[in-house]
Amino acid sequence: MKNYLKEEVRFVMRTEQVIGDGIALNLPDHLAANGWRRIGLVLDSGLKQHNPYLSEVVENLEKNLESVHIVVNEMAEPTYDYLNEVKDVFAPHDLDCVVGIGGGSTLDLAKGLATLKSNPGDAIQYRGFGKVTQPPLPVVALPSTAGTGSEVTPYAVFIDTEAQWKFGINSEYNYPRLALYDPRFLDSCTLPIFASAGLDAMTHTLESFAAKGATLLSRVHSIQAFKLLWEGLGSLAEGDRSTETKIKLLVGSGCAGAALMNSGAGPSGALSYPLGVYFKVPHGIAGSVFLPGVIRFNVENGYTEYGQLYAAVAEDATGDEATDALRFADELRDLCAKLGIPTSLEGFGVKDDEDRDQIIEGAFQLEAAFAHNPVTFGPDEIRKLVYSL
Ligand SMILES: [Fe+2]
Repeated sequence: MKNYLKEEVRFVMRTEQVIGDGIALNLPDHLAANGWRRIGLVLDSGLKQHNPYLSEVVENLEKNLESVHIVVNEMAEPTYDYLNEVKDVFAPHDLDCVVGIGGGSTLDLAKGLATLKSNPGDAIQYRGFGKVTQPPLPVVALPSTAGTGSEVTPYAVFIDTEAQWKFGINSEYNYPRLALYDPRFLDSCTLPIFASAGLDAMTHTLESFAAKGATLLSRVHSIQAFKLLWEGLGSLAEGDRSTETKIKLLVGSGCAGAALMNSGAGPSGALSYPLGVYFKVPHGIAGSVFLPGVIRFNVENGYTEYGQLYAAVAEDATGDEATDALRFADELRDLCAKLGIPTSLEGFGVKDDEDRDQIIEGAFQLEAAFAHNPVTFGPDEIRKLVYSL
């Protein structure tokens, strides 16, 4: 077994988390407790259209706070140009914090806007790691999908249209101060959104579990997140949309995000980027298509610890780590199929060798993520995996 207890174990979690059904209606109290009365509010446009509970929450904020200035995020994946455009909405106002309610992209937009409120100029100059110099406004995050974990991480991803690639504004300053997990925001999720988000979280938790940088503390989160997500996604595939299932998925995705930012990512998450950028495949689904193949590759090369995860949730586990790990890869592929997700690249419009080579080239840009894999995963392995799907 890998010795994941390093000499010095550090686990960072900077976000206060509150969980409960209907708790978004208590948001004014949580804000008041911090002395925040003037807010910039970033809302997801899909949520605004389809979830009546959101109107209730916004009305309650407007009734109880000094001022509420609203930006509605119209983009599924915001660009730096869009960030520059919408920052003007908040520019003339004094704000105490920025509150984001929506999916991962909306929470990222809230982080970007909070950053630009105190860091002047074009958003693109803050692209990368550690470019932000002034502390942004505090961010409060209420996720409406259970996937990215953005509500606890310091990452905010935007598309650079010129470079045609996704780059983050990633800063130690960007951790949201407060996250509220309210399952009522998930009432309007369709099955494809649930599945895409849930599989994004599943990718985070499996890659954080296996990553070379995993520690005793990150694994506590990875393992618990895995159990919650496995149960939640399994229930979802059976048509269960109960509050309990939604809470499992929300908490699982938050813990998976926390595990990932403390351990390092892996090949599936990295490969999801070119599939997303070039073939417009939603991020979560794009990662999940590679997962079973990465697991099988790792098992064949001597890394079998996924078997421990399978043993934690399956009654038919054999106790032999390698056998259970391979069973797990099959079960995971079946779960994706049950959720209606294609299990081959053709299902996403990848037609020929030229398309596959474009994905491979794109993945090479994310070398660092492959270096976290527990066994060597170099250019030849990337090529083999992409051509096997
Ligand atoms: Fe992800």
